[in-house]
Amino acid sequence: MEEFLKEFGDYYGYPDGPKSITEIRETEFKRLDQGVVYLDHAGSTLYSELQMENIFNDFTSSVYGNPHSQSDISSTTSEIIADARRQVLEYFNASPEDYSCVFTSGATAALKIVGETFPWTQDSNFVYTMENHNSVLGIREYALGKGASACAVDIEEAANQPGQLASSGPFIKVKPRAVQTRNTSKLQNEESRGPFARRIFSLFFHPE
Ligand SMILES: Cc1ncc(COP(=O)(O)O)c(C=O)c1O
Repeated sequence: MEEFLKEFGDYYGYPDGPKSITEIRETEFKRLDQGVVYLDHAGSTLYSELQMENIFNDFTSSVYGNPHSQSDISSTTSEIIADARRQVLEYFNASPEDYSCVFTSGATAALKIVGETFPWTQDSNFVYTMENHNSVLGIREYALGKGASACAVDIEEAANQPGQLASSGPFIKVKPRAVQTRNTSKLQNEESRGPFARRIFSLFFHPE
């Protein structure tokens, strides 16, 4: 830990935030002081005690209801949800004209929706990196089931190439592995309709 802090201490935690990570841990994650080391915060984030306190105060003083009905409570609830979606898009610098924020129960549920709704065709490719989230691999079944091909790739970050601008980021080498397909002779060639008609879409999943 000491070596890590020596090398990365200036960047560790939230150096520009109001509280250091040690202070956050001591004040908002007091329950971790029972000799527990929690290593899955990026995948299954722990709620902080401050969040719980705020949520408790809000839920016990406000009246929220079904956001789809026509009542004052419904429209207030619906505005709060719309505002949360706006904040998420803003955080990711994503324009609401190009992106939508969809709340799901978790990463697996979100990836399942992508697999189920992606406009796969028999000419689509699903490409994913070897080091990827397990649930990303699940998308392969949806792609193969619709006659698309699936292929894992190894990614190597190579040093910047001569003449390449440093600002364009590291040069990435992609090495494909075997391409998987499934016998699709029984598949009906469904005519796609709507905005995706006769267009071929492919999906590349990078873990970052
Ligand atoms: C180690 C780990 N943490 C967290 C998650 C995210 O779980 P969820 O899909 O419930 O968001 C996963 C999902 O597979 C996982 O493998």
